[in-house]
Amino acid sequence: MEKLKLLYEGKAKRLYETADPDVMIMEFKDSLTAFDGTKRDELLGKGEWNNQISAVVFEYLNGRGIPTHFLKLLSPRESLVKRLKMVPLELVCRNLIAGSMAKRTGLPEGTPFKRPVIEFHFKADELHDPLYTEDLILALEIVTEDELKNMREIGSEVNETLRAFMDERDILLVDFKLEFGYTNDGKLVVGDEITPDTCRLWNKLDMQKLDKDRFRRDLGDVAEAYQDVLSRVRK
Ligand code: TMP
Repeated sequence: MEKLKLLYEGKAKRLYETADPDVMIMEFKDSLTAFDGTKRDELLGKGEWNNQISAVVFEYLNGRGIPTHFLKLLSPRESLVKRLKMVPLELVCRNLIAGSMAKRTGLPEGTPFKRPVIEFHFKADELHDPLYTEDLILALEIVTEDELKNMREIGSEVNETLRAFMDERDILLVDFKLEFGYTNDGKLVVGDEITPDTCRLWNKLDMQKLDKDRFRRDLGDVAEAYQDVLSRVRK
């Protein structure tokens, strides 16, 4: 499958059209960005690690009957994915308090929730991806009640599945972000990526962070953390 026109370039990936209108090539870049792109760096190899981590995770989810856009790994930094019409919402699911939830609640990072928390953010960089209540999403008709329910169900399934997958690899799934889209035949599936850029992953043994917080918070050893995640998910 050959890359044709560049369809979209984001902070971490490029999407290319192929001869097949139903599929695209996703190419992972080496850029690291945080805080809506205001903090940036390049990390040689990061695109390859993330592409391969995402491929393993999506293949696992596909195998468990969870619908995703992922088709196959093409090269170290490219994957073949289904072409989607994206839903302009991000679903965030949290098992433990961290990041913006620690700020919002005043509770310490690492506090477990009694049950997972799912929330939605509206995708708009200029507004800093604000938290939207479900009521607001429905009142603005961003998606319907059925679509929202469908996303919540898939989000919960991803959480249960990915949590167990990571647990077997001695990694705690603290929280993660999902994006959704519709395939050309109208099916709602998980799109984008599932990587240390979009999840918080803590080493169970010592609670060391193995995700983008190492970059956001200048903790160092970003490459080592991503490579560690890749080697563990491959097992
Ligand atoms: P938060 O604590 O900053 O709200 O982030 C929660 C989770 O969602 C964390 O795993 C990082 C991920 N995330 C993204 O992937 N993209 C984003 O734009 C945001 C805000 C969070």
